Amino acid sequence: KVLILDFGSQYTQLIARRVRELNIYSEIHPFNKIPTNIDSYKAVILSGSPNSVRGEDALHPDLSAIRGKKPMLAVCYGAQYLAHFSGGNVAPSNTREYGRANLSFIKEDEAFFNKINIGSQVWMSHSDTIKELPTNGVLIASTNDVTNAAYRIEGEDTFAIQFHPEVYHSTDGKQLLENFLVHLSGFKQDWTPDSFIEETVAAIQEKVGNDKVVLGLSGGVDSTVAAVLLNKAIGKNLYCIFVNNGLLRKNEFESVLSQYEGMGLNVKGVDASKRFLDALAGIEDPEKKRKAIGNAFIEVFDDEAHKLTDVKWLAQGTIYPDVIESVSATGGPSATIKSHHNVGGLPDFMKLKIVEPLRAIFKDEVRRVGATLGIDPELLGRHPFPGPGLGIRILGDITAEKVRILQEVDAIFINGLKAWGLYDKVWQAGAMLLPVNSVGVMGDERTYEKCVALRAVESTDGMTADWVNLPYEFLQKTSNDIINKVKGVNRVVYDISSKPPATIEWE
Ligand code: XMP
Repeated sequence: KVLILDFGSQYTQLIARRVRELNIYSEIHPFNKIPTNIDSYKAVILSGSPNSVRGEDALHPDLSAIRGKKPMLAVCYGAQYLAHFSGGNVAPSNTREYGRANLSFIKEDEAFFNKINIGSQVWMSHSDTIKELPTNGVLIASTNDVTNAAYRIEGEDTFAIQFHPEVYHSTDGKQLLENFLVHLSGFKQDWTPDSFIEETVAAIQEKVGNDKVVLGLSGGVDSTVAAVLLNKAIGKNLYCIFVNNGLLRKNEFESVLSQYEGMGLNVKGVDASKRFLDALAGIEDPEKKRKAIGNAFIEVFDDEAHKLTDVKWLAQGTIYPDVIESVSATGGPSATIKSHHNVGGLPDFMKLKIVEPLRAIFKDEVRRVGATLGIDPELLGRHPFPGPGLGIRILGDITAEKVRILQEVDAIFINGLKAWGLYDKVWQAGAMLLPVNSVGVMGDERTYEKCVALRAVESTDGMTADWVNLPYEFLQKTSNDIINKVKGVNRVVYDISSKPPATIEWE
């Protein structure tokens, strides 16, 4: 496996992802906690960092157990670190070293740059620059603005690059990692979900020991896979709580609960629908609804957790995109569009330690792990569903009657997608209940009833999305079914907006 030493870069997790995409297992450890079993790692990658090597607070770990003994790739801060503390010189840069650049020089016959050509786009993001290479440094690549863009150390398998191979915009980044790991470090590309499961189970056991762990199940892929992993690791010490917030899909609570029981999970279903509806009464603003739902969930969950004695840990199905998105919600540089979920929602009074077995992996990896764990493919293939559920798909205030109407509409739409073989072609689908009434005619009667919007999008991560070109015949049939079967609805529209500029949910 690959050891990634994290110096705090926002991209460290991406390095791990890129390495794993090559089917090579990688682990991230803080720079100042180098694992003692260093022999179990075959190569080391040093990440970037927001810090400067020149500052008084420079992160300065002792790498003597690694340096020259194992193949090492130093990225950005890592590259500056090696230069600064080993006889080179790092200084503030006076040219622009952010963003796109192209390699303008590559030393001939360097295996490190196998299959990578001059002109290859690389992504830079640093304010210091390497003025002089460290002792025994050999220049192996430059860009127009950055002479010392890549170097290696003569007599060692040590490579250093100023740019970020892990980001998408470094077009040959993956090839470069492959060159380093496969060709220069001798990795076989045989990491599988099995090995992730084995390592994660061992890590959970080591972390929580014989303590009790509580986990909130949502019916979604992430919390389910997290629960099954934890169950494998600690069995009956895992206490799962599945809350019905009254805003789930039709029959979802009952059917998912029995599925969980069938999987051998120690799960308690709590029907708190009324409590949520009461908390939501009269609230129209989307963010206030989210807060009300979030708070009600915390209260219900906390009540339940207090019924258990001696619980020390709270497990969460947080996956990496949650971690990225929550940065904006918790005061990061980008604006809060919608306050998302999972991360940072823990009230102080719960005082539980957190265990998040899926924190470093992405949705597609979660699904692969889930399949390997034997979880029902239908459950794994479920569309994402927001935590506040139908609460943010009923525009404006929420009542029990509106929930009922939307559940019926949603069920017709989703079951239709399944029956027509369209469900798996869509990333996420659902129906919105709009706060408008419109005039219709049924039989000879005038009606003045609700309008629903259907939405189906394709996406990979929910960050960007486009509407799906569903067949007209399907839309026609679905619209007919909805209007004929769901009392209170007389009009159906299909949402043809992409994200951006729209969002997936209407609230
Ligand atoms: P938007 O509407 O922001 O949605 O384009 C992107 C993805 O996030 C889901 N979503 C939420 N999930 N709590 C959640 O757990 C929320 O408050 C929330 N808001 C949106 C949405 O369903 C889509 O998959």
